[in-house]
Amino acid sequence: MSPNCIGAVCCTAQWSGMVPVDRDGEPLMNASQSQSNPLHPDVWPSGAKFEAEIVAMTVGMLGDGQEAGGEDASGEDAGGEMVGTVTSGGTESILLAMKTYRDWARARHGIRRPEIVAPVTADAAFDKAAEYFDMPIVKVAVGADCRADVVAARKAITRRTAVVVGSAPSFSHGTIDPILDLSELARERGIGFHTDACLGGFVLPWAKKLGYPVRPSISACPA
Ligand SMILES: Cc1ncc(COP(=O)(O)O)c(C=O)c1O
Repeated sequence: MSPNCIGAVCCTAQWSGMVPVDRDGEPLMNASQSQSNPLHPDVWPSGAKFEAEIVAMTVGMLGDGQEAGGEDASGEDAGGEMVGTVTSGGTESILLAMKTYRDWARARHGIRRPEIVAPVTADAAFDKAAEYFDMPIVKVAVGADCRADVVAARKAITRRTAVVVGSAPSFSHGTIDPILDLSELARERGIGFHTDACLGGFVLPWAKKLGYPVRPSISACPA
């Protein structure tokens, strides 16, 4: 324990949960950043409230009229069908999702080394997930329009596949994969489907409202 860390939130028993202070107890970081830590909603309940509100607003934008579900800030069942969590960014979101699909495929389908099927245009975060979580990644070709080739994706799916991936849009080319067709492949096989909307997820609903030809929203995917 560094002398600079004496103070604030030792009762949480986690070094990462402490607010670094100097010997006089003054926070060392900018005041707006130093007085809360979302790792500890028991100490700072506003963090959980903000997260619940962000999820609810996001469901409102992307959810085609569905309501946010899960628990609200007070731990009550919030009802609704869609749930969510706030992460530090796109890569963490993808890592968490891929690990979840890996564990789910092991538990549900008994697959020892579950695989990811992803277009070659998918973000590098999927390769990182493959490395971190020991999940072979099978890359699928894209067509001349740089969108995932659904026929190639179908061929790439095996009994070891845990999850099929599509991007809306992809980082490398800005193209939107045929999300509904890919998700239907996954639904037929009873496996997971993940839309990477890190880049355009918050743009697409408004583009649709502005009259641009955006395909049915992500929440319309049955898989
Ligand atoms: C489509 C897509 N997925 C994932 C990521 C990774 O997100 P981050 O850089 O926030 O980790 C990006 C980043 O731009 C992206 O565009």
